[in-house]
Amino acid sequence: MKVTVSRKAHFNSAHRLYRPDWSFEKNDAIFGKCNNPNFHGHNYDLTVSVTGEIDPETGYVVDVKILKDFIKSEIEDAFDHKNLNVDVPEFKNLNPTAENIVVVIFNKLKAVLEPNLELSVTLYETPRNFVTYSGD
Ligand code: NI
Repeated sequence: MKVTVSRKAHFNSAHRLYRPDWSFEKNDAIFGKCNNPNFHGHNYDLTVSVTGEIDPETGYVVDVKILKDFIKSEIEDAFDHKNLNVDVPEFKNLNPTAENIVVVIFNKLKAVLEPNLELSVTLYETPRNFVTYSGD
């Protein structure tokens, strides 16, 4: 009997979408306003979902307080009020699109969670635009 436990979180970050190996014109054509050289911000929302068996002793799949603390230490402390391109090492050579950000978040959380737990992360870049990664 598997149950999914989810926790929502939030961070504000700046980014710029571009490839340094492309001309400004090509970056502008592909990334539009997101190629603004002075960066721009998003209010990112996050849903972290953990699926597993209910522990018969505790009745928990995962202790939500531990999950909350992992999200704070691994994601919020690393990304909130940061410039993703400049301040976050994972994006030094990786374009910080929503797709790439959700994979980085997944990998950081997967590394600290119990290995028998299944993980899925949904990242909202705007209320209408969101991406999901479950490790495939
Ligand atoms: Ni953007």
